[in-house]
Amino acid sequence: MSDPCSFSSPSRCVTKHLNLRLRLDFRRRVIAGTVELTVEALEDGFSLLTLDTRDLNIVSVSANQQPARFALGSKHSFKGTQLDITLPFHLSRGQHVIVQVVYETSPSASALQWLTPEQTAGKKQPYLFSQCQAHHCRSMVPCQDTPSVKHTYYAQVSVPKDLVAVMSAVRDGQEEDPEDSGRVIYRFRQPVSMPSYLIAIVVGALESREIGPRSRVWSEKEFVDKAAFEFSETETMLKTAEYLAGPYVWGQYDILVLPPSFPYGGMENPCLTFATPTLLAGDKSLSTVIAHEISHSWTGNLVTNKTWEHFWLNEGHTVYLERMIGRQMYGEPFRQFKAMGGWKDLQDSVNTFGANNPLTNLVPSLQDVDPDDAFSSVPYEKGFALLYHLEELLGGPEVFMGFVKSYIQLFAYGSATTEDWKNYLFSYFKDQAEVLKRVDWNAWMYTPGMPPVKPQYDATLADACISLSQRWITATEPDLDGFSQSDVKTLSSHQLIEFLSLLLQENPLPLTHVKRMQEVYGLNAFTNSEIRFRWLKLCVRSKWEEAVPLALQMATEQGRMKFTRPLFREVFNFSKYRDEALRVFTAHRAAMHPVTAGLVAKDLKVDASGAAAQ
Ligand code: BES
Ligand code: ZN
Repeated sequence: MSDPCSFSSPSRCVTKHLNLRLRLDFRRRVIAGTVELTVEALEDGFSLLTLDTRDLNIVSVSANQQPARFALGSKHSFKGTQLDITLPFHLSRGQHVIVQVVYETSPSASALQWLTPEQTAGKKQPYLFSQCQAHHCRSMVPCQDTPSVKHTYYAQVSVPKDLVAVMSAVRDGQEEDPEDSGRVIYRFRQPVSMPSYLIAIVVGALESREIGPRSRVWSEKEFVDKAAFEFSETETMLKTAEYLAGPYVWGQYDILVLPPSFPYGGMENPCLTFATPTLLAGDKSLSTVIAHEISHSWTGNLVTNKTWEHFWLNEGHTVYLERMIGRQMYGEPFRQFKAMGGWKDLQDSVNTFGANNPLTNLVPSLQDVDPDDAFSSVPYEKGFALLYHLEELLGGPEVFMGFVKSYIQLFAYGSATTEDWKNYLFSYFKDQAEVLKRVDWNAWMYTPGMPPVKPQYDATLADACISLSQRWITATEPDLDGFSQSDVKTLSSHQLIEFLSLLLQENPLPLTHVKRMQEVYGLNAFTNSEIRFRWLKLCVRSKWEEAVPLALQMATEQGRMKFTRPLFREVFNFSKYRDEALRVFTAHRAAMHPVTAGLVAKDLKVDASGAAAQ
């Protein structure tokens, strides 16, 4: 079993610990780093260590303090460049070596976004953040960048003294940099073994507020009070998650609210969840995202997918746990509502990729596939649907949660494959072998398209969304007078989101309809990003020209890929505004996150040089 996304060979050796010293240079946009990797040989006669790198400048390498020869391979489009280190001695199986690499990152490192002061809320200080998942850690630290290897880490980060550094670890004090009185060194320790993709760093003019016994919220000072208020449910969710999944082992659970260009809704960095600031706009989906990232503390961070081909183990189980937290806090009908919405998201993804696309497999082959290109709702929602289907077959939520908790205990601190998971499922439910044998495993896991069976969902909360969307879909022009503000008065924001999603699954509404919808519901005034996103998409799809600048504005004033990519794509597909989409993208590209910019460029068929393809 090997990792198609990594050059390092985890079957020959494994990293146990990283000791990092990082010095940030905002002027040059580089990190000067020294990393000491404690590596254990898994075979006799071990003397060749291969690490993953991407756009790194390697200065020197030593092994147990002796100089070591090294060579960089050729550059692969997304895997980066292998770094071969020849140890000046041989190790036998079980022996350790400390390999030191002195290096510098590139200003275009794919894990890092360097922001100018103008791109921050405070406008005075620059800002840096990382996003390593899935395979970008190698552009920040030379390492075995595969989730099959887990290690602890210690870090010392030197930054200009007006800035604050935080990492995915426990804070371990700070001191003036002995080499430069204009700088401060922040120290961090992560004593729990974790994969490289969970290494994370942020440096900026940060402040924090306490929000619970083990939680603080971090952001620029402009947002910190608002954030402390919005994330006040954190401890309740942590307790609920512990009740369901077992003790929280990471000590601290902080949340960091990033600048708007952060490409995801949330990222489960240990001890310090990263969150998009779009959650602060009175958005109810905030609790979904936080329940989700909290859940990763067990599924993903404790039990980790062995390669990105088994990503559904991370995300499917996390969505399952997230919805169990929702069940405990808001009731079973709420979970059913979310589960049904998830099935619809899966349908949308399958439609976008095409029902024969192998990337819609629950377990896809990622041989020569960039994990960023493979990313979609499929591992989340096909994964959830499988777990929910098994829950139905095997005895309901309490019974199945018993299995999930036991799976977590068994594989905690390790990495698992789909086979590992399935074998344990069969052994846990050995009394129900007949039931398990009737599941079409091959269809669920290795066949593209929708799953072989659709689970049952209770539609109590969805009915209002379905009937209102049907009224709009079937309305003729004279019917438009029949709609009024009172249609949506009793809908929660979750239901409004669902209503819009249902409309987006149909043929575009006539322009008269969306204009009338604006008149009666006033959706242009909504700031909730999940609502605004779907609404603008709907308007552009109906070719409402006035919505185009609003859609492009949302696509650029925040950078969450879930919103930015489809909004650009929607305007691009409106032929009259295709050039406008390209113009706006080209104008913003340099200020965008490197991964987002690369994916939007692919979506809009813009080549690397910036020219639109024919
Ligand atoms: N770990 C993911 C984000 C991610 C996945 C980053 C793959 C890079 C590569 C995170 O936990 C996540 O799933 N975030 C979702 C939250 C949602 C499912 C509630 C998001 O960003 O939308
Ligand atoms: Zn997730």
